[in-house]
Amino acid sequence: MSVGTACGKIILFGEHAVVYGRPALAVPFSELRASVTVKARTGQGIVIRARDLGREILVGDTARDDALAAITRLTLDKLGKSDNLELEVSSEIPLASGFGSGAAISTAIVRALASYFNSSLTPDEISTLVFETEKLYHGTPSGIDNTVIAYEQAIRFVRRPIGEHEILPIHIARPFTLLIADTGIASPTKVTVGDVRQGWERDPERYERVFDAIGAIVSEAQDALAHGENAQLGELMRRNHQALRALGVSSDEIERLIAAGSRAGASGAKLSGGGRGGNVLFFVEADEANVVRAAVLRAGAARVIVTVIGEKA
Ligand code: PMV
Repeated sequence: MSVGTACGKIILFGEHAVVYGRPALAVPFSELRASVTVKARTGQGIVIRARDLGREILVGDTARDDALAAITRLTLDKLGKSDNLELEVSSEIPLASGFGSGAAISTAIVRALASYFNSSLTPDEISTLVFETEKLYHGTPSGIDNTVIAYEQAIRFVRRPIGEHEILPIHIARPFTLLIADTGIASPTKVTVGDVRQGWERDPERYERVFDAIGAIVSEAQDALAHGENAQLGELMRRNHQALRALGVSSDEIERLIAAGSRAGASGAKLSGGGRGGNVLFFVEADEANVVRAAVLRAGAARVIVTVIGEKA
């Protein structure tokens, strides 16, 4: 039996604009993981059991657009293997919440299969395989989710043609506390990315201006992180969130949580990921976290996670 796991991810700055070639910063989120075990199957063929998703898939029977079956087939082709296998998928990462659950499950499948066949794949090879299934989940993904999860490193990502993305590790000079509040609303990234594309097609100049503003915020944030100037991060998050609002991907629930957390002392907040639901990030001082947590729970957050970004695992 072999096991593969993968972390979730958090986009700190730059979502949506990253689809249009601007940089974004993302970090691994190791508290929540997806996990896959692979073992030999006595019956014929390959079966995938994903209890959390309530699914049992016989790989040969599925349509080509089933993401779990697709990543299994792609990985076996890449490894040059075929066998009768049983895969058990489990994940602590909530679906459609901005934590990269789809990419994490796919990455865990690739790692588990590589380990089962005693092969090793580079982070870049894993990321390229997972990107294929990201297209099934997301339509036109930038590639940031599969990259940060496959590398499990804080990165600055710029979308380029596949295989040529700019992926740079980022330096976080001083760890900082992030409070992550879940709106409890699942919001498929495919929908918000599609809506932003429609807006961009209607009014490309306005959208390009917003994307440029986001790109500039990302560069400022990268500098602030590198120099330990964490006091700037809250304000940069506020500005990034205003730009995301201008793209139409916030929602009443997100705004309600941000208002409550800000009143309780968070110096900045923004949605993270596709938006309209999913998670909101709050930049807080460690000793403020409990007060902000209580405030956002009162305002309706489904759950709250407090994590420190930039500490070695
Ligand atoms: O919703 P998530 O966590 O999958 O993040 C999506 C990030 C976007 O920039 C909105 C889309 C993308 O492919 O980069």
